[in-house]
Amino acid sequence: MPKLTIEGVGSFDVEQGKRLVLAIEEAGVDILHRCGGHAKCTTCRVTFQAGEPELMTAAAREKLVANEQLGEFRLSCQCTVDHDMHVEPLMTVTSSGLDDAGPAPEPQITPEPVWVDAEGNRVAGDADEGDGDSDADDADGGAAG
Ligand code: FES
Repeated sequence: MPKLTIEGVGSFDVEQGKRLVLAIEEAGVDILHRCGGHAKCTTCRVTFQAGEPELMTAAAREKLVANEQLGEFRLSCQCTVDHDMHVEPLMTVTSSGLDDAGPAPEPQITPEPVWVDAEGNRVAGDADEGDGDSDADDADGGAAG
């Protein structure tokens, strides 16, 4: 089980692959998720002290680029806990003075994740999404000789 350390809160064993925003919430932190975990609001933002995932979802990257916040923080609704990580949640109900955190995020990342690297290049993920568009073979030049 991966270990999630939350700055100033403690360390917790987390079910492999759990959505980070939910793991933080279950650890007792009132982290905001005002858009319900759809990569739209950025209130679920966290910084990583360790274990920052290399890949991000295209939706998260798009949002951070649009806000000129790429590299400043990550969206916890767009990360899963699949290895040890140490994070600091940046916006909470308590710190914001809002009435509630926002709609409950789904157990899985929404929208359905398309994984990209830091430059935004699409990366083949777990490949368990077999929906028939796998013509990745023609990347190599065709001049057979
Ligand atoms: S971006 Fe809104 S909850 Fe993550």
